[in-house]
Amino acid sequence: MKTYLITGCAGFIGSNFVYYMLNKYKEIQLVNLDKLTYAGNLENLKGVEGDPRHIFVQGDICDKELVSKLFAEYDFDYVINFAAESHVDRSISNPEIFVQTNVMGTVNLLQCAKNTWYNEGTWKTGKKFVQVSTDEVYGSLGDEGYFMETTPLCPHSPYSSSKASADMFVMAFHDTYGMPVNITRCSNNYGPYQFPEKLIPLMINNVKNHKKLPVYGDGMNVRDWLYVEDHCKAIDMVAEGGRLGEVYNVGGHNERPNIFIVKTIIAQLHDRLQDEGISEDLIQYVADRLGHDRRYGIDPTKIKEELGWYPETPFEVGIVKTIDWYLANEEWMSHVTSGNYLKYYEEMYKNK
Ligand code: NAD
Ligand code: DAU
Repeated sequence: MKTYLITGCAGFIGSNFVYYMLNKYKEIQLVNLDKLTYAGNLENLKGVEGDPRHIFVQGDICDKELVSKLFAEYDFDYVINFAAESHVDRSISNPEIFVQTNVMGTVNLLQCAKNTWYNEGTWKTGKKFVQVSTDEVYGSLGDEGYFMETTPLCPHSPYSSSKASADMFVMAFHDTYGMPVNITRCSNNYGPYQFPEKLIPLMINNVKNHKKLPVYGDGMNVRDWLYVEDHCKAIDMVAEGGRLGEVYNVGGHNERPNIFIVKTIIAQLHDRLQDEGISEDLIQYVADRLGHDRRYGIDPTKIKEELGWYPETPFEVGIVKTIDWYLANEEWMSHVTSGNYLKYYEEMYKNK
């Protein structure tokens, strides 16, 4: 039976990964280490409560003592590091925590893995460290071209700089000590359990409540959207079959300007809820994000050719599934949008 240390899996992608893995593998042990920051939410994991294949540990990936203890207790085959501060806007107002968690936390995990998996110049067999990274480390594209694994790193935001830095430490452990690693770099995910600070769930929540829809700049920034389950599948495939020391880009030629996403959500909710208060009049163009990357687009040829991965969910299907999920889970949304979220929203959008 394979044993995984998965970090940050009470957040959006990680919780989807837990469901994906437990559905796919009958015999598996997942140890989920999560600090439960504002973005971590045990409600995301209600569906696996009582399943002995998933063990939740509340704690910080920067905590050396705790992570070492987990390595001593479990014979991990894989570390899959999702844990991160993940929101670009928050990184612009508070970069330090991004360095702490995304850089220092990753280095701590690498060190603890090395202390357990490496002895007198030899690595135990069957071990691997998978770093879940982002296409944002490549910077921004113009109208043409795509990010390839060979594209030079050129991060712009404090968030993407911290992720690029973590990627470099992962590769440094591979190049220096021969650590068995992979890095995945994925484009924008969407789907169930995404915290409504991110574009799609924020807009769904605001549309439903007839709140203004804050579109940054001219609304023509382009993101390459991937349904979260397709990302989870890619991570599993890379963990299983990725060549050691390699980076794999994950994305699906699903590029859309932000304003297209917002108008799609408006049209869907208008029709589904038969609500005449829902219209494009809710759109409000606001001050642009500082250093706003113009366009992301992934070339997924490598993961397709080497591992046979492809994005199974077309955007038109994925966005309907996503809206269905948020409509069916109003209680989840009302819990995560109370209290601190209101303060965040007010502060974040006050000068917009
Ligand atoms: P998220 O913000 O929804 O979840 C992050 C999780 O990490 C939360 O549960 C949080 O509690 C936990 N966490 C934060 N700091 C921690 C710490 N110090 N110790 C332990 N746990 C901590 O993020 P997400 O959108 O699910 O992203 C997961 C990973 O995927 C991140 O590494 C992110 O950079 C990467 N990624 C995200 C996307 C995307 O579109 N969301 C795309 C590509 C890559
Ligand atoms: O590309 C992968 C990255 O995608 C991940 O590494 C990040 O963790 C994830 O947060 C996401 O980053 P983005 O900055 O692209 O996602 P966000 O949902 O914050 O914004 C998507 C686009 O929508 C971006 O161009 C900014 C714009 N936007 C966002 C918000 C929250 C708005 O116009 N208005 C908004 O209110």
